[in-house]
Amino acid sequence: MTLMRWVEEGKGDLVISDVIMPDGNGLDALPRIGRMRPGLPVIVISAQNTIMTAIQAAEAEAYDYLPKPFDLPDLMKRSARALELKRRAPKTVIPPKDTGDDLPMVGRTGGMQALYRLVARVMNTDLSVMITGESGTGKSLIARAIHDFSDRRTLPFIVAQSIDLQGIDGPSALMARARGGSIVFDEIADYDEDTQARVVRMLDLLGDNAPRIMSTSQVDLAGRMASDAFRSDLFYRLGGVTLQVPSLRERVDDIPLLAEHFLAKGERELGSVRRLSKDASDVIRAHNWPGNVRQLENMIRRLLVTSSEPEITKAEVEQILGNQPVSEPLKGGGEGEKLSASVARHLKRYFDLHGGQLPPPGVYQRILREIELPLIEIALDATSGNQAKCADLLGINRNTLRKKITDLDIRVTRRRKLM
Ligand SMILES: Nc1ncnc2c1ncn2[C@@H]1O[C@H](COP(=O)(O)OP(=O)(O)O)[C@@H](O)[C@H]1O
Ligand SMILES: [Mg+2]
Repeated sequence: MTLMRWVEEGKGDLVISDVIMPDGNGLDALPRIGRMRPGLPVIVISAQNTIMTAIQAAEAEAYDYLPKPFDLPDLMKRSARALELKRRAPKTVIPPKDTGDDLPMVGRTGGMQALYRLVARVMNTDLSVMITGESGTGKSLIARAIHDFSDRRTLPFIVAQSIDLQGIDGPSALMARARGGSIVFDEIADYDEDTQARVVRMLDLLGDNAPRIMSTSQVDLAGRMASDAFRSDLFYRLGGVTLQVPSLRERVDDIPLLAEHFLAKGERELGSVRRLSKDASDVIRAHNWPGNVRQLENMIRRLLVTSSEPEITKAEVEQILGNQPVSEPLKGGGEGEKLSASVARHLKRYFDLHGGQLPPPGVYQRILREIELPLIEIALDATSGNQAKCADLLGINRNTLRKKITDLDIRVTRRRKLM
């Protein structure tokens, strides 16, 4: 076809091709174009507005993919971007953000591989992405990875809390902050009616330089929609592509890998070198992990802070999994000892553990975390798991409490009374 002749002769700086061409499938030509003219950007346009087309375009390494109907300014803008990219060649590949020496996402089981492939394929499209999965499975991490590996990676990454959407200027201020980067509507099922309406209005205002829209949800929004608890127009606007993140129970073979990953992370951050004994590792693998990767990560962190032997034992793991209070019983303190005195004793021992060296930086957050955890657990027990009462008791906002419960991986249901 004529197009291929031009490409071969070195004519032109940009190819814009429909998927359905009079003489064949436009996607089929992409690998040949790539071989003949490496770095020549191709924009694929398609009326078959499905994820599969996007995936094929990404696989064939199209520079960009544009579903029909598109508007001319949009095409012009993308063309300009493609040409600009070509001019800057060979520096066209922006390296991924430095994520440290470890992979941002651990997991080699089939479920995760399938997810990675999808992530790779949606990465540089403008499709909205909804990430679903149980709490702690890694939804937020995936949203971050999609941004960090996409060509928007140098632009802002914004996680929208519903508070950001309040007030007249809320939505537009958020858009201004995002500047064409990515916005994540986190745990969207928690948005009340009013907030949902604000998001819809905001999405209606998207124009030039629109950010990539992502959202995360723990609950089945289709079900919510059926019972009118979630707006269908919002559902369809957010759910261009759905990525389902498997629970940890569905990928048991990843558990040892993740445990090792978090031990290594702890080694870097806390400076404590620990390994898991064989039977400790077996217990971890056999556990049900209702809190998924977050729970596993928090458990390893707690083990690193509380255990002082190089090898973590089965008993230590079982103690934490049995949801026993983490701190060991206060020795020598007894009745009437002031809290600050007991904390001081613990801290002194913690510093002593480092044998003349300073502990790694971040002591403040680490210690506060250790105090927050039993405080919230015990307050929840005292209020029989009633979060409203518990927030009142602690004198903190209910949303703050809810966030801390998630972050610290505290199980609220079926709480036993501590003796
Ligand atoms: N596959 C993974 N590899 C490494 N760390 C992970 C993985 N999945 C989740 N995590 C970690 O577990 C914690 C919870 O993940 P997060 O994305 O916040 O879960 P969610 O948003 O689904 O509740 C985070 O600290 C995250 O870095
Ligand atoms: Mg999250």
